[in-house]
Amino acid sequence: MKLTLIGDPVLREKAGPVEQFDDSLRQTLDGMVKLMRKKSGVGLAAPQIGIKKRFFVVQVPGEEPLFFVNPEIIGTSMEMSGFEEGCLSVPGVWGVISRPSSIQIQAQNGDGKFFRLSADGYLARIIQHEYDHLNGILFVDHFDEKQSAKYQKKLNKAEPAKK
Ligand code: NI
Repeated sequence: MKLTLIGDPVLREKAGPVEQFDDSLRQTLDGMVKLMRKKSGVGLAAPQIGIKKRFFVVQVPGEEPLFFVNPEIIGTSMEMSGFEEGCLSVPGVWGVISRPSSIQIQAQNGDGKFFRLSADGYLARIIQHEYDHLNGILFVDHFDEKQSAKYQKKLNKAEPAKK
C-alpha cells in the first residue's frame, strides 16, 4: 500500500461505488488506518492509495478510527468555519479552508451496514476533506487567489496541465 501524490491522475478521478463487502475491503480499510497513523494523518481516502472506489478512514486523535464506505453527505450547516488543512497527498502545502461547520453523513461500514452520523468541529472538517477525495477534489481547489498564488509554482509543477 503506497500513498499517491498530487500529479497522479487517480486523485483527479471520480471514484466508483463499493459493491463487495468482503475480507479484501476490510483488510484494505485496516491497512489504510495503519498507513494513516504511520504518516501522522487524520484521514485517508481510497484514491490516496490508488484505489478508485468510494471509501475513506478517519481518526480524530484520541478516538477510535471510523470507516466510511459509499458515503453521502446528506446535510450541511449554513454556518461556515475556517480551519487550516493539509493533505498527505499534497506535501508541504497548508491553508485555511472555509467549509460548513457541521454535516450529516450516511455511509456503510466495512460489513455493509448503513449508519448515519452528525459531525461538527474537527471531525466534520476531516470528513468533508476525505469526501472531496472521492470526487477528485483536492483541498487546494478551495484556495482563494492569495493562497493559490503562494503555492502556484509548486502546484503547477505537480499538475502542469491544470489552469
Ligand atoms: Ni487529503
